[in-house]
Amino acid sequence: MTNQPLLEISDLVMHFRTSQGPVQAVDHVSFRLNPQRAVVILGESGCGKSSLAKAILRMLPNNIGAYSGKVFLNGTDVMSLGDEEFRRSVRWVQMSLVPQAAMNALNPVIRVGHQVAEPFMFHNSAQRKQAMELVKQMFHYVGVPADFISRYPFELSGGMRQRVALAMALVTSPSLVILDEPTSALDLLTQSNIMNVLKRNKAELGTSYILITHDVATSSELADDIAVMYAGQIVETGDAEAFFGQPLHPYSKMLMASVPRLRTDVEPDFISGQPPSLISPPSGCRFAARCPSRFDKCTLEPPSAIKEWRTVKCWLYQ
Ligand SMILES: Nc1ncnc2c1ncn2[C@@H]1O[C@H](COP(=O)(O)OP(=O)(O)O)[C@@H](O)[C@H]1O
Ligand code: SF4
Ligand SMILES: [Mg+2]
Repeated sequence: MTNQPLLEISDLVMHFRTSQGPVQAVDHVSFRLNPQRAVVILGESGCGKSSLAKAILRMLPNNIGAYSGKVFLNGTDVMSLGDEEFRRSVRWVQMSLVPQAAMNALNPVIRVGHQVAEPFMFHNSAQRKQAMELVKQMFHYVGVPADFISRYPFELSGGMRQRVALAMALVTSPSLVILDEPTSALDLLTQSNIMNVLKRNKAELGTSYILITHDVATSSELADDIAVMYAGQIVETGDAEAFFGQPLHPYSKMLMASVPRLRTDVEPDFISGQPPSLISPPSGCRFAARCPSRFDKCTLEPPSAIKEWRTVKCWLYQ
């Protein structure tokens, strides 16, 4: 196995301008992903997970404020590329995205087969006929019947539309796919079918994933590595087996304790309170207001940022 990470992110920052002040949605995030692995980014709603996906793929909203840091993909600093070069050689080609609520983001007036063909035709200068053949194969691969190719999104169930979005992200054979809550809002059977497609694709083609979810149970199915995100920052990283065996950060422990367990009478603990506003987050540890292990130092100074694997951003461990 090569020692070069597939993706290395260092000090990534993405803030949004608002009338109340900057929203620190992604605040000095660093992590690394090795080839053919899946990292799960775990955290509650509002912690900056979708913003992190957009920051990696340079999908910047109009009210972007600060945007900085380094993103190395296969050793190339893609942050230093011009927009056109990034579009031509990185987005879709090397990294693609299944956006949050992808099944509702398909264009309602274009047949789904044509939508899936689009990124392939653009990046491979392919003719429609050749692209449609590939789309048929992709549909078969993700479990969409071939004759759905000429249907419009409204003629498909939510689960089928989500599979179409997945086909669109895979059609250019990228080495990394970012999946933002790919199975939320789907029934359990469809969730499990989609996870099986992802697992098969990883095993057969060696595709790497960044899987974003708030659902610990889903994450455990695919994860090789875990990164827990809280209030715009990564607070714990680690190998999935080590993490699930023993989560270290008080927030990770609470996330794990909130998962319903089938074979015991232990009731899940709900995490009380909410993540802080990212407009003026606490200056000490951002989790302090909800942390049962908090002590004096926690509210005075932030624990140091995470740069390596199996690290914890918490004063208990520093
Ligand atoms: N374009 C934007 N302008 C201002 N605030 C935003 C924008 N996009 C997201 N946010 C805010 O950034 C924070 C993180 O959002 P998001 O990345 O969607 O979190 P998550 O995916 O973890 O739920 C939230 O407080 C959200 O309201
Ligand atoms: S630094 Fe302090 S408040 Fe923050 S998670 Fe650790 S113990 Fe809790
Ligand atoms: Mg999100």
